[in-house]
Amino acid sequence: MSDSETLIDVQNVYKTFQKTHALNGVSIQFQKGRQYAIHGASGSGKSTLLYIMGGLDRPSKGKVIVDGNDLSKLSDKELALYRNQFVGFVFQFHFLLPSIKCLDNILLPAQISGKVDKSVEQRSRELADLLKVSHCLDKFPYELSGGEQQRINIIRALSMRPKLLLCDEPTGNLDSQNSATVTQLIKDLAKEFQATLVVVTHDPKVRESFSNSLFMQDGKLLKSSSHTDGLPPVPPMG
Ligand SMILES: Nc1ncnc2c1ncn2[C@@H]1O[C@H](COP(=O)(O)OP(=O)(O)OP(=O)(O)O)[C@@H](O)[C@H]1O
Ligand SMILES: [Mg+2]
Repeated sequence: MSDSETLIDVQNVYKTFQKTHALNGVSIQFQKGRQYAIHGASGSGKSTLLYIMGGLDRPSKGKVIVDGNDLSKLSDKELALYRNQFVGFVFQFHFLLPSIKCLDNILLPAQISGKVDKSVEQRSRELADLLKVSHCLDKFPYELSGGEQQRINIIRALSMRPKLLLCDEPTGNLDSQNSATVTQLIKDLAKEFQATLVVVTHDPKVRESFSNSLFMQDGKLLKSSSHTDGLPPVPPMG
């Protein structure tokens, strides 16, 4: 049952690739402005769930309702608009365009939507400063380390102030100290933008810093728990 506090309502979602059942009946609600970590073994379906919530793929069965709107009813064009205006995605593997410089990569979503103005660029420069990649903005992605590329990716994901921020191993390329710093920054920024944050992570330390921790196994969400941030736990489902 969804309510006005629910941003994403995943209803009994299945995803099958040929013979692989990547998602096996996942039901979960993500509340507005809350922050969630997802963990689970390789191949358990974490990225697939994120892609489907982010409108990058469609379920084989089941529904995803976003703020009361059924994603399956959207045309491909409307789904592209949803991705552009509503979702920020930090991918497990970087998806920076190799042929344009990092600042242009960051401004790409705004350019696509026709909303580039000085404030987007200024905000991006401030974020680059915070994430210590100012020196990278005028470089091409191949000139950056993996960790630097990942931070550019994070800035791009935030450039449109998304209501939903989906991060797939956002600190996978960082050492433990930078990992903690970048995770905290992502959380602070999501809070500032009042975005719902969902982070897939293998790092137990990162996971423990989230109030809501979800566990995936064999395409199912098996466990949900809540730590002590005074908020009620995620409804157990799935
Ligand atoms: N496009 C695809 N075509 C075929 N099979 C796929 C595709 N995408 C995912 N799968 C399969 O679906 C299952 C779930 O994949 P998924 O990428 O969601 O796992 P994951 O939990 O993100 O794993 P990891 O921690 O390694 O990133 C895997 O068995 C994978 O091989
Ligand atoms: Mg994955």
